[in-house]
Amino acid sequence: MQQTKQVQDYIRTIVDFPHEGILFRDVTTLFADPRGFRMAIDQMLHPYAGERIDKVVGLEARGFILGGAIAHQLSVGFVPIRKKGKLPGRTLSQDYKLEYGEAIVEIHDDAIAPGEKVLIVDDLLATGGTCGAAIQLIERLQGQIVSCAFIVDLPDLGGRKRLQEMGMNVHALCSFEGL
Ligand code: PRP
Ligand code: MG
Repeated sequence: MQQTKQVQDYIRTIVDFPHEGILFRDVTTLFADPRGFRMAIDQMLHPYAGERIDKVVGLEARGFILGGAIAHQLSVGFVPIRKKGKLPGRTLSQDYKLEYGEAIVEIHDDAIAPGEKVLIVDDLLATGGTCGAAIQLIERLQGQIVSCAFIVDLPDLGGRKRLQEMGMNVHALCSFEGL
């Protein structure tokens, strides 16, 4: 008997992208499939049924695709966290470490009101550097983070542990062992 496809079954793995030795977990194949995409959005929302959420924050770039759909489903506003220099208004900036070097992400300084309940959304959790910087930005605006929601967790890279040590709830729909 054929098994029903699960979220992870729609994710394509590209070998040696962007560098040799990396298995790239490509969610574009999940997004492109109507059943897969709806399943992912529904499952990402499932843990928060009945919880108050005021804003969905999506992390550039794939977090925008998920965050937009989730905010629409919840009938709440969507807030982007973008890479440096992309947001036109007054921003707060936060730097974070990459494998080589550093990066900076930004949020509009009026995007979240103090006390608002925030759900952070991105496609993938690896080291947790990106999401960690997003958490710092939201906390600087005195937002209250309900949870961080991902499609994929790469537990070997330690992101979940790092976010939990920052006091976060972390949900992911699937995980892949190894890099
Ligand atoms: C990837 C992924 C996450 C982040 C996870 O984005 O989409 O946002 O890395 O890695 P981390 O947990 O180690 O921070 P990337 O920075 O490649 O940019 P993109 O989403 O704009 O393509
Ligand atoms: Mg990203």
